[in-house]
Amino acid sequence: MCGIVGYTGREEAAPILLDGLARLEYRGYDSAGIAVQSRDAEGSMRTQVRKAKGRLKALCEMTGNGRDVRGCCGIGHTRWATHGEPSVANAHPHSSGDRRVTVVHNGIIENYREIREHLEKKGHVFTSDTDTEVVPHLLDDYYRGDPVEAIIRLISRVRGSYAFGIIFSDRPGELYAVRKDSPLIVGTAEDGNFIASDVPAILKYTRNVYLIDELEIAKLTADEVRFYNIDGEEIEKKATLIEWDAKAAEKDGYEHFMLKEIHEQSQAIRRTIEPRLADGRVVMDELGMSEEEVRAVSRIHMVACGSAYHVCMCAKTVFEETARIPVDVDLASEFRYRNPILLPNTLVIVVSQSGETADTLAALREAKARGHRVLAIVNVVGSSIAREADSVFYTWAGPEIAVATTKAYSAQLAAAYLLAIFFGKVRGTLNDAEARKMIKELQKLPAHVDRLLEEKKKVQLLAAKLAAANDMFFIGRGLDYAIAMEASLKCKEVSYIHSEAYAAGELKHGSISLIEEGMPVIGIATQEDLYEKTRSNLVECKSRGGFIIAVTPYGNYSLEGVADEIIYVPKTLPAYMASVAVVPMQLFAYYISLARGLDVDKPRNLAKSVTVE
Ligand code: M6R
Repeated sequence: MCGIVGYTGREEAAPILLDGLARLEYRGYDSAGIAVQSRDAEGSMRTQVRKAKGRLKALCEMTGNGRDVRGCCGIGHTRWATHGEPSVANAHPHSSGDRRVTVVHNGIIENYREIREHLEKKGHVFTSDTDTEVVPHLLDDYYRGDPVEAIIRLISRVRGSYAFGIIFSDRPGELYAVRKDSPLIVGTAEDGNFIASDVPAILKYTRNVYLIDELEIAKLTADEVRFYNIDGEEIEKKATLIEWDAKAAEKDGYEHFMLKEIHEQSQAIRRTIEPRLADGRVVMDELGMSEEEVRAVSRIHMVACGSAYHVCMCAKTVFEETARIPVDVDLASEFRYRNPILLPNTLVIVVSQSGETADTLAALREAKARGHRVLAIVNVVGSSIAREADSVFYTWAGPEIAVATTKAYSAQLAAAYLLAIFFGKVRGTLNDAEARKMIKELQKLPAHVDRLLEEKKKVQLLAAKLAAANDMFFIGRGLDYAIAMEASLKCKEVSYIHSEAYAAGELKHGSISLIEEGMPVIGIATQEDLYEKTRSNLVECKSRGGFIIAVTPYGNYSLEGVADEIIYVPKTLPAYMASVAVVPMQLFAYYISLARGLDVDKPRNLAKSVTVE
């Protein structure tokens, strides 16, 4: 949650900070602020702070797009409120009384109350309701002229998760950063150096980044970057070259990132599968698992949040069918607190687009602490989950900016199919011909997705028709239930229409009482052996007044008499049907949001990566 950007160099900082924040707004958008070191009329260095409630636009207007705040070193923040309502007072940056120290923060300081009490007794005056405000005050208290020393004392005192960007008014041109359990990178370029919570913020200026590790401190000036460990010793770090190009994080002619990313799905799937195929086989050297180790796995436990959890639900079916390994699926937020039973030889697979989701990261650590190998399916290179997992499978979906995930979800599904084929082949549950067929069908998925996009007009018309609905049901059985869960979440998050995803056969055990005249019921029917069963459930809904929409493959015309509208999708293997059925559901959510006049890329109350519990 929240976005951080910082710059020190030879250019004016404020326009760079605002530009970076604009690219990070998807991480939080209830208020924003910048702080820049500026010379006052007498020539003394002062830190100027500007903050505005609401979208970044307000801050840009207030500062003449940054032109009114002069200076070449500063920090910026876009906020997703945790402690304290969205307001100017609670917006970051926060400063100590005389602005000697100014800080932007992502994460949560758990022991802020006791620190605040302690500092108030010493005379510090607080002006916000945030946990963050204790940080500049505490640093001010510790600061004796050596910023690194003060930061080390700070991180020994605060508990919680954090990524901090820090400037001191008496250290012109110096920018400091430190992190724990919240992402932060350093970028280097000709005209200056940067910090950012996410790569897209600085992609326009550099692709050369350093990933700051837990409790490492970075000191940036216009010309150099130095790193220190918690003992204050200088350490060497290696830079990483980010492969994404700047255009990947732009809208590139599309009205919204969500629509662009829906359209990028075929490419995302292709980029995920192609590097893993050679001579008609799935190659998985990157996992660092020997065939012996793969054969020794007796159970898989998949853990994730939100849409990534829905991927796990689909993956369970595919893995169990293909590799005959029992798969348990858990929500990361539940897994960590319920003392899960992990039997010996259980492989834990975590799935995450951002690689920074706090609950998923905590689940990974829990599994590792219990001695289990953790394999991570992750999109963001160098993210915390990628760095801490034993094996990493990168989905090469490129940067995903819209809060509602689309292309990352599709790439994660493709990753799960590849892993299932690989495990099936190594463990002998899949013969050569079966594996070849699965690979062949997998390679056709991008074309199926593109075909669906060509037919998006029909989905748009349907969305316009249903945009005024108050409630919806998404139902399905087996794998179709997992697809229904994702379709329902997508619709909820961007359209704000209340919806429920239900196992179709479960509806009559209570929830069918909610169906009223005209209520949309979307039935996902992609699994041939379940067509008849799902059809009966849709008939039950129809006879209670439901307006029935079916999503089913070409060739299944058994729903013609039941459904009021049918969205036909290309037929692929039953195991892969989620990859095609989800596309019209994403478009459906997108167009409903548009028809309702909502901010589809930045839905209310949400943020792209959830780095708090
Ligand atoms: O970055 P992650 O994949 O770990 O994020 C998990 C969820 O927060 C995410 O999928 C969320 O549910 C999306 N907004 C869904 O569109």
